Amino acid sequence: MNIKVQANPIFKECNKSKKRYIVMKGSAGSGKSVDTAQNYILRLLKDNGRNLVCVRKSDITNRDSTFAELTGAIYRMFGNDADKYWLIKQSPLSITCRINGNQIIFRGVNDEKQREKLKSITFPKGKLTDVWIEEATELTQADLEIIDDRLRGELPEGQFYQIRMTFNPVNRNHWIKKVFFDIPDDNVLCHHSTYLTNRFIDDAYRQRMERRKQVDPEGYTIYGLGEWGEIGGLILHNWDVKDISQNLDDYDGVSIGQDFGFNHANAILLLGWKDGDIYILREIYVFEKDTTEIIEMALNGDIPKNKVMWCDSAEPDRIKMWKNAGFLAKPVKKTKHAKDKSYVNGQIDWLKQRKIHVHPSCVNTIKELQQWKWQKDEKTGEYLDMPVDFQDDAMASLRYGVESWRKGSSWVT
Ligand SMILES: Nc1ncnc2c1ncn2[C@@H]1O[C@H](COP(=O)(O)OP(=O)(O)OP(=O)(O)O)[C@@H](O)[C@H]1O
Ligand SMILES: [Mg+2]
Repeated sequence: MNIKVQANPIFKECNKSKKRYIVMKGSAGSGKSVDTAQNYILRLLKDNGRNLVCVRKSDITNRDSTFAELTGAIYRMFGNDADKYWLIKQSPLSITCRINGNQIIFRGVNDEKQREKLKSITFPKGKLTDVWIEEATELTQADLEIIDDRLRGELPEGQFYQIRMTFNPVNRNHWIKKVFFDIPDDNVLCHHSTYLTNRFIDDAYRQRMERRKQVDPEGYTIYGLGEWGEIGGLILHNWDVKDISQNLDDYDGVSIGQDFGFNHANAILLLGWKDGDIYILREIYVFEKDTTEIIEMALNGDIPKNKVMWCDSAEPDRIKMWKNAGFLAKPVKKTKHAKDKSYVNGQIDWLKQRKIHVHPSCVNTIKELQQWKWQKDEKTGEYLDMPVDFQDDAMASLRYGVESWRKGSSWVT
């Protein structure tokens, strides 16, 4: 069998180690997730009797993160032979190696029910040996202890238990720092990687990070340098990730928001409105694509043509192209200029008063929500009433998309 694997050398140490805890902090885009997925696929293929459980705080987010990474790795590595070697099931999610019966399953620790489910894991062959905790900072120390307890008992000669955690170091007071980084322990391998050590990162990504260094130094510490930092001044807290209905008939209203971009992301959100709550159903989030390409994606991605699409009014040419393609694209009527403080803040105030439910497939929107924050006055340390002008494209799209609900039916464009 000929398997193609392209890897980043910085992770070699993690992949070779047999320590119980592999704790991998890193910047955004350092390659942690891709490398971890590839390594598990190789490990399960080679070592009989090993089984993996992938854990996210919220079970439903596995599909678009750990599961997507692992299946992506399989198709990259095995090409047309993928299905010969691996059995990939969608519901419930599972991946089984057809050669040796080793298996991968997916769990969450969000509530008692999910935690109980974690305690009763069995595999057709062998024991649970490996755990991948993706975005590990979402978990509490108690969550980790439940998982840790699962990895006990005698193993056959040569086998070992291992928990691998991958995350951005979002909070310097986090228990993970205290437990794993501040106290030296032979059972622990602490690892650090950044986008600069990822040989697959392109120039456009590097340039965006350079810009972040300028406009958002605090965010750059975490997402650019992969160092422990702190995200203060978050704008929205009133959101959750939920398996919400994709059936548009289930909502009182449906609309679309679009923020145009090329070097910045072009973000399109499909939004629902029900009983005063906002639902983010789908996203299209792309860099460096021209309008024709994005229209193609919207046509394939179930963005409806019979719902109004509220767009950034600064680009009438692009709005026209969307209209010509059959979409109900309209400019958001700005009472004042988009960068006007009171205009944006009015929208933010309104958003803060609702509940916002996000479908787990909207991974980029979730990333933005986790770090959309107020600017800080470097001298006084106080937060200003303007959002940081970085990684806020889905947020702009959200602001535009809800305008008709915010302004009520009296709002005529
Ligand atoms: N081994 C690889 N082969 C090909 N491309 C890779 C590889 N590793 C990383 N990449 C590229 O780098 C990008 C970032 O990698 P990845 O998503 O693993 O980063 P990450 O460290 O998990 O980031 P985040 O902290 O944002 O989750 C990937 O989307 C992919 O394009
Ligand atoms: Mg990742």
